[in-house]
Amino acid sequence: MARIPRQQLLSYEELDTATDLTTAERATWEAAREATAHAYAPYSGFQVGAALLLADGTIFRGTNQENAAYPSGLCAERTALFGLAANQPNHPPIVGMAVAARPVNGEFGPALPCGACRQVMLEYEARQGQAISLLLPSREGTILRFDSLTALMPFNFSPNDLPRP
Ligand code: THU
Repeated sequence: MARIPRQQLLSYEELDTATDLTTAERATWEAAREATAHAYAPYSGFQVGAALLLADGTIFRGTNQENAAYPSGLCAERTALFGLAANQPNHPPIVGMAVAARPVNGEFGPALPCGACRQVMLEYEARQGQAISLLLPSREGTILRFDSLTALMPFNFSPNDLPRP
């Protein structure tokens, strides 16, 4: 039986500061940061904001929403995506996304989406059949820029893996 070693390349850009972003990216980046102020995070004290840039230039925000029954809470990335789909079912394609996070009253730090959010993010990219670029603050204080959300989750389970009902 053949045992073939394989590797996958992950392509992304690393930017030093937000001034290196395009105007639309910058607006999305800032919206995610501003959104952290509206997080409901009384239990973790960790405020997360997510911003979705739509093809018409508008920006839709999400924040983490915690709950006394801890697992009932939801991450910012998913409140943004679910909120958009629920409120604007015919929304223009999502072209970009940014995430920001900080402890209450603290400095902005890294914001790397959890696995469950990555799975949901991929669903929306697959659903619209158009790539969504992503800006994430890295652990080193730089900005990571991905052309597509698929880069975040290789070998993901996608809608194409389900038989059509
Ligand atoms: N959180 C997010 O909103 N997004 C992530 O990608 C990671 C974690 C939230 C969930 C919870 O409210 C808090 O951050 C601490 O985990």
